[in-house]
Amino acid sequence: MQGPDKIRHGARSPKSATIEPSLIFFLTDPATGYMLADNNRHAKAGKQEHTMDELRKFVAPEFIFGPGALASTGSYAKQFAAEKVMLVTDEGVLSAGWAQKVAASLEKEGLATEIYSNVSPNPRDHEVMEGAETFLKTGCDLMVAVGGGSPIDCAKGIGIVSSNEQHILEFEGVDRVPVPGPPLICVPTTAGSSADISQFSIICDSRRRVKVAIISKSLVPDLSLIDPGTTTTLPPKLTAETGMDALVHAIEAYVSNASSPITDINGIKAVSLIRNHLEPALNHPLEMDHRSAMMLASLLAGLAFSNASLGLVHAMAHSLGGRYDLSHGESNAILLEPVVDFNFDHARGKYSDLALAMGLEPFQDPKETRQRLVETLAGFRERVGITTRLSHLGISKEELPALADFAMTDPCIVTNPVMPTKKEIEELYAKAF
Ligand SMILES: [Fe+2]
Repeated sequence: MQGPDKIRHGARSPKSATIEPSLIFFLTDPATGYMLADNNRHAKAGKQEHTMDELRKFVAPEFIFGPGALASTGSYAKQFAAEKVMLVTDEGVLSAGWAQKVAASLEKEGLATEIYSNVSPNPRDHEVMEGAETFLKTGCDLMVAVGGGSPIDCAKGIGIVSSNEQHILEFEGVDRVPVPGPPLICVPTTAGSSADISQFSIICDSRRRVKVAIISKSLVPDLSLIDPGTTTTLPPKLTAETGMDALVHAIEAYVSNASSPITDINGIKAVSLIRNHLEPALNHPLEMDHRSAMMLASLLAGLAFSNASLGLVHAMAHSLGGRYDLSHGESNAILLEPVVDFNFDHARGKYSDLALAMGLEPFQDPKETRQRLVETLAGFRERVGITTRLSHLGISKEELPALADFAMTDPCIVTNPVMPTKKEIEELYAKAF
């Protein structure tokens, strides 16, 4: 176990200090680092095939799943030899009382805690920089993030800024984090962003008004304490939006060009769990069976997308979210159907599996599968209460070329089953108006 000074400067446990840049995602594309499947082969076959003799890696943090997991934060923080903890959270989580429960667990172990809660729903670059300054100034040596994707992504950013002494935006892209941050324990309170599982951090560049994706093995938290009870206080709108985000994670990872048999098992199971439990979780918010099932779905979807990456829905949603400061889950939900319709013929077999997981019967005609799958996703979205279109969110059609331009540069687009043109992306946005 290392002393606090070493931890603060990023030289943490051997498992996380050893970064293997060339192996992230088992990527072979030198420009992006992703190991991409052969699109031509897939297009001919009408599906994405896996062979079991391909070399694969799967990155995941240690996690504890179950009711009461939150209460062990203090004892786990002690195991990292922490002396002073920065607890990163936001106002909503403070109002619900979960951050205070985590703080009490830390206090019980005699750990001093500095709370940082200046975190927006789409965390900003300057919030990360301010958090890093506070982390260093107050002599913290470990971070605990309590909340949904925003506090967790912000905490990841604070960690790598404090260990590298660089601006957060300098890490944009794949594998651009030289030194890992201090130890990070996550307590997710949504189901979910899966930021507590993933090697992603999404931060808003407030000057350019775009969301940048930072993807690195260094961003995988050290430990996630996944306590489904924390989701019982979620407002219905957040339950629906975060649940739809998890559904899009699972679907995009499943059809991703970097998917593998291991990510597939997690992705497809997540889809069926969300199909069966998201509506009941909304209708019976205090029933733990549904909350636990949704938390499990979020975990599985996170394991899938952290290793297979995402696709065009996320690339387009990141572009929208940065410019208009929209809800991430709502943007994804609105964009999912046009993107599935567009992608379908480039991963027919995979989308047919997803149709079954969404409760459809198998159809002989792929065109019928495509149409019924898109209709089913639309019905599901509406039943969970997301009925907005982009036109309701104050988006101007004149902005579509700029939105498409930025979506083309998002790292998530690289693993979409087919690379769209800028004009095709504009048309997809237009379909969501
Ligand atoms: Fe997402």
